[in-house]
Amino acid sequence: MIDDFNSLVIRGARLVLRSARLEDVNELFGLISESREELSKWLPWIEFVRSMEDERHIVEQWVYEMQLRSAIHLCVTRESKIVGLVGTHQIDWINQRTSVGYWMGTTYIGQHFTTESTAVLLNFLFENLKLHRVFIQAATENEPSNRVIRRLGFKWEGLLRENERIKDRFFDHNIYGMTQRDFAGLKESHSVYLGG
Ligand SMILES: CC(C)(COP(=O)(O)OP(=O)(O)OC[C@H]1O[C@@H](n2cnc3c(N)ncnc32)[C@H](O)[C@@H]1OP(=O)(O)O)[C@@H](O)C(=O)NCCC(=O)NCCS
Repeated sequence: MIDDFNSLVIRGARLVLRSARLEDVNELFGLISESREELSKWLPWIEFVRSMEDERHIVEQWVYEMQLRSAIHLCVTRESKIVGLVGTHQIDWINQRTSVGYWMGTTYIGQHFTTESTAVLLNFLFENLKLHRVFIQAATENEPSNRVIRRLGFKWEGLLRENERIKDRFFDHNIYGMTQRDFAGLKESHSVYLGG
């Protein structure tokens, strides 16, 4: 069993996913700062990350959560440079389920990096952690995110009305799920994203 999640290194076809750590604060804050315009369209927490100190608090919390095995926060790296982030929210070990989320730096979008890194994360969640169900939510108007989700084979499960407030507007969310059985049927199509 993996004791804590602070030293994960998981390889994809082109990318390496590794646990976020305190030394990443500068690089993460830099990436957020240069991508702020794109990220703030869909991520309500962005407006609360205004300084390196804000980002440090967030990463400290992540390190603690990973120590407790209650969540996973992975830097997506390409040639050792951080290009984005993927991870889980709270892992419910009793029901063997969690939800996932992601963002990419604006310079790196449009290269299927999110699709690849989410496929790598899903493989880890189902194969290594033996989770039973993974779900994901995306604003109905966030077309790139809905495309990532559908390409990965998540099944649409419903609509959450006016579920998230971004800049004083409430957005509807699609909710999608994937079970361990669904994942078994998708392994071949996902294999292109996984490292050898
Ligand atoms: C959503 C996000 C992570 C996607 O990152 P990405 O690395 O570009 O994603 P991918 O390249 O793996 O896939 C993007 C898909 O959307 C498509 N796409 C990209 N821009 C698009 C646009 N403006 N309109 C419609 N489709 C678009 C791509 O063609 C691709 O679809 P395909 O697989 O059918 O070719 C990125 O745009 C981002 O960080 N957005 C801001 C944060 C965010 O929305 N996070 C998710 C919250 S649920």
